[in-house]
Amino acid sequence: MQNIIEVANITYAYPRTDIPALNNISFSVPQGQFVAIIGPTGAGKSTLCYCFNGAVPRLFGGEMSGSVVVAGKDTYENEIPVMAQHVGLVVQNARNQLFNVNVQCEIAFGCENLGFPRQKIIQNLHDALTFVGLQGYENRQPTALSGGQQQRVAIACVLAMEPDVLVLDEPTSELDPIGSEQVMETITRLNRSLGKTVILVSHDTEFIAQFADRVLVINDGSLVLDGSPREVFSKADLLSSCRIRPPQVCQLSYELRKKGFPITDIPITIDEAVTLYEGLQHG
Ligand SMILES: Nc1ncnc2c1ncn2[C@@H]1O[C@H](COP(=O)(O)OP(=O)(O)OP(=O)(O)O)[C@@H](O)[C@H]1O
Ligand SMILES: [Mg+2]
Repeated sequence: MQNIIEVANITYAYPRTDIPALNNISFSVPQGQFVAIIGPTGAGKSTLCYCFNGAVPRLFGGEMSGSVVVAGKDTYENEIPVMAQHVGLVVQNARNQLFNVNVQCEIAFGCENLGFPRQKIIQNLHDALTFVGLQGYENRQPTALSGGQQQRVAIACVLAMEPDVLVLDEPTSELDPIGSEQVMETITRLNRSLGKTVILVSHDTEFIAQFADRVLVINDGSLVLDGSPREVFSKADLLSSCRIRPPQVCQLSYELRKKGFPITDIPITIDEAVTLYEGLQHG
């Protein structure tokens, strides 16, 4: 499988800071993978997201070494509008940044900036709105929508620009459970139905355990762990030292194991836990 993202030895410090926000990070992502990024507050997750389209360092300034290549385009050589054709970034708190008079203008805005012809904009607008389940909302005012709907408009905005990779920075952190579920369901379909490569920053480890192919753990600007959800969520001590809350089924299993229950493989979903505990009961 071809790698759509190549991150090599990036170290980055914001202007007027001494301690780098990112410290020698390297990884590559095959096309179509669903990658989750987890880590405590201030770890560098958002900073890493801004590297994918070159906003770090182009927009933020500061010192960067190493390289980020997405879809064969190096962020060092290509400006943000070029990168935006390959990487759609839904920034943290994106829904608070919707500013157009209606949903239609909001979504068309990015496509117009990329210079798409009118007919393509109309088609992409329709397809993106249908995909996020908001067909018929074209003339609604974004600020009058629910939080979950606003976040789905933000996703439609980047989707309409036809990126290969979607980067979503904590898209559900401010949403109620129903809004979160709708947004997460949309993100899962982006990956599974459209085949988009997805990079998701989230604290929702239950969702990650169920749907992500891979988890990157960032702490203090460094990539401290890179593995499958199963590998990552079985590392109780490391997660705790990084102040990361693992899925509750994992926490329960860590505690039972400490009490002497014979648990070798930590279950990461409720279904797996049910099977394990049934076995323990009958065993
Ligand atoms: N514009 C900026 N200028 C200077 N320092 C910054 C800037 N933005 C972030 N930082 C610092 O860089 C480090 C990483 O911040 P970043 O926002 O990437 O963390 P994060 O993992 O996304 O945190 P959160 O979970 O709170 O969103 C932090 O120490 C933060 O204070
Ligand atoms: Mg952040």
